[in-house]
Amino acid sequence: MKLFLTGASGLVGAACVRAAARRGHQVIGTCHRHTGPIEGLRTRLTLDLTDPAAATAAVLEHFPDAIVNCAAVSVPDECDRQPALAQALNVDLPAQLARLAHHLSARLVHISSEQVFPGTSAGAYAAGDPADPINLYGRQKLASEQAVTAAAAEFAVTVRAPLLLGNSPGGGRSLHERLFADWAAGRTPRLFTDEFRQPCTADNLAEMLVELAERRDVRGVVHWAGTDLVSRLELAERVRAHFRLTPQQAPLAATTRADQADAARRRPARLELDLRPLAGKLRTRPESLETALGELQVPAASRAWYLG
Ligand SMILES: NC(=O)c1ccc[n+]([C@@H]2O[C@H](COP(=O)([O-])OP(=O)(O)OC[C@H]3O[C@@H](n4cnc5c(N)ncnc54)[C@H](OP(=O)(O)O)[C@@H]3O)[C@@H](O)[C@H]2O)c1
Repeated sequence: MKLFLTGASGLVGAACVRAAARRGHQVIGTCHRHTGPIEGLRTRLTLDLTDPAAATAAVLEHFPDAIVNCAAVSVPDECDRQPALAQALNVDLPAQLARLAHHLSARLVHISSEQVFPGTSAGAYAAGDPADPINLYGRQKLASEQAVTAAAAEFAVTVRAPLLLGNSPGGGRSLHERLFADWAAGRTPRLFTDEFRQPCTADNLAEMLVELAERRDVRGVVHWAGTDLVSRLELAERVRAHFRLTPQQAPLAATTRADQADAARRRPARLELDLRPLAGKLRTRPESLETALGELQVPAASRAWYLG
């Protein structure tokens, strides 16, 4: 299958390149600012996807069987800082890709976020539960889901993804990479004891996204996540223990939503996703936190500190 992959230089996109190669697909991957290598990517396009004409020309030239959209402004604070750029990438681009998918009769796999939910529920959110985002990122992701469904209902599936772990091409994108950067610089990261997430790795998500690209019978909005719900502090403690670092070598400070009331207003407190019915339909399985931790590598930039 010929797969057009936007955001091939990102945490999820780079994992999709590896997953697609493992599954025998041909990938055309787009990057924007990243200039370093991307393991396994043979056809690489450097494109500004906020330029609709450039995006359309690239897709039509390659005439893919499937489009997987991993390009985004993926950090909520960055959306607040650059709302117009975030609107272009997080809403206008997926809407445009959906129109192209419809035009080409191509499969479209788009990624949304758990942050379409407010995080006030004590239980797991089902895919059909009303979304009610509390930050701009969540509102843009919800708008993208609606635009994708409106333009390509028969071809598209949108996956709401959780907090992601993994090894990013730039080495600084994911949670453990940011923890290592802080520890190596002598800083003590502060983490919420009362903010809960259900993380999985970008590789596990990517395997599932590529499986969905192959499967045209799953449509609409679905959920994916790991099997364990943990607080951000517990997650960081598990990362530290996994790499056999002591609290003296790798200190962590606890904070609470009450301590950071201003930031907490824009941060969902508890995001647990109900994975039915998707999890039972696919060969890819949701992974445990233990399995996810086993996939993490010491980031290259922190290796000297780690070994020293
Ligand atoms: N990471 C998470 O914890 C998480 C959680 C839930 C959902 N998601 C969603 O999953 C998807 C992938 O996220 P990610 O974490 O892999 O994001 P990421 O690491 O921040 O990667 C973003 C990608 O978008 C590309 N990009 C940015 N601006 C662009 C532009 N103007 N033109 C073309 N490409 C551009 C980047 O290219 P360059 O790097 O080359 O500039 C990069 O490849 C996103 O939809 C995100 O919202 C992520």
